[in-house]
Amino acid sequence: MHWRALLAAAVAVAAPGTLAAQLRFSCSQLVVDRLDPLVNPGQTPSPHLHQIVGGNAFNATMDPDQVDISEAATCTSCQFTEDFSNYWTAVLFFKARNGTYKRVSTIGNGLGYSASNGGQTVYYLSSGKVTAFKPGFRMVVGNPAYRSEADAKKNPALQFTCLASPMTRSGYRYDFPTTTCAGGIMVTVRFPTCWDGKNADSPDHQSHVAYPVNRNCPASHPVRIPEVFYETYWDTRPFNNKNLWPEDGSQPFVWSFGDRTGYGNHGDYIFGWKGDALQRAMDANCQSDLIQDRLNCPTLKSQSIAQANKCAVQRRVREDLDGWLKELPGAGAAMGGMK
Ligand SMILES: *[C@@H]1O[C@H](CO)[C@@H](O)[C@H](O)[C@H]1NC(C)=O
Ligand SMILES: *[C@@H]1O[C@H](CO)[C@@H](O)[C@H](O)[C@H]1NC(C)=O
Repeated sequence: MHWRALLAAAVAVAAPGTLAAQLRFSCSQLVVDRLDPLVNPGQTPSPHLHQIVGGNAFNATMDPDQVDISEAATCTSCQFTEDFSNYWTAVLFFKARNGTYKRVSTIGNGLGYSASNGGQTVYYLSSGKVTAFKPGFRMVVGNPAYRSEADAKKNPALQFTCLASPMTRSGYRYDFPTTTCAGGIMVTVRFPTCWDGKNADSPDHQSHVAYPVNRNCPASHPVRIPEVFYETYWDTRPFNNKNLWPEDGSQPFVWSFGDRTGYGNHGDYIFGWKGDALQRAMDANCQSDLIQDRLNCPTLKSQSIAQANKCAVQRRVREDLDGWLKELPGAGAAMGGMK
């Protein structure tokens, strides 16, 4: 489907007269580092490598009882300057025939945000009244241990798109594309939209949220929250020469946690909007304009992508991330002690 048709379909989801918000904005690359303050707090390094966007309070430890990131951060790599949240995913690597790995970079979203220095395009979507996250809220979607389509499909939209051009919005799949992609690979991560109304987190970082059933939130998770969704453009174009691909014809990409299938795709979110900014934007029914790339949300303060590109944090873990590496950073561990 072409993106204009996709947009029309998205808009059609909301019945006339109901509140529907669609924030869409760019968050530039903040840092690529082997930290995971959500799943492995305090571990420097964490088991596998991530690419992170958002506020510069990102660190190995982000205990909500110790730090309010919306106060601690002094800049954000996102266009909305009241958003000090952190959003992250694993990192893609190319595996060469000689067995070495080369890190794949993220690039700006070809649909409007190519000026960003990589990172992600972030959406907050709603149809009907939603309750914005409370301070300290965090969640994970997907599972780095998944290696089958059946597992991956437990989450509706952790997907890959082989970009024929930067505008391609069709051919979603749950595993890595098997052919070369002229415009790179887009990875989407979509979080659940129902919350238990009590817990800002849970031991698995997932069970305090749930997906709707027949469009309604289940009784166990009755509170409708904004749908957090992000798109990452991976610049696989330097690796499109098929002579570099495995001789057996398989595809050459691997997640930083050692997954060659793609089914272990997952994403992490730590809420960090200032005050009631996110609630205000959702209540104001803000509709970012995809066609003209306008943020279109006057209740929120914003900055240019050039300004957002300047917000960065220093890497904490010292290791080579740019050469042809003999092994994945951390040996591609999915979780502590696991491959
Ligand atoms: C991250 O935490 C370390 C150790 O507590 C601290 O020295 C450093 O300043 C923190 N970095 C940021 C960006 O807050
Ligand atoms: C491994 O292959 C890559 C890609 O072909 C090449 O750039 C690199 O120099 C090779 N490394 C070694 C040690 O042969």
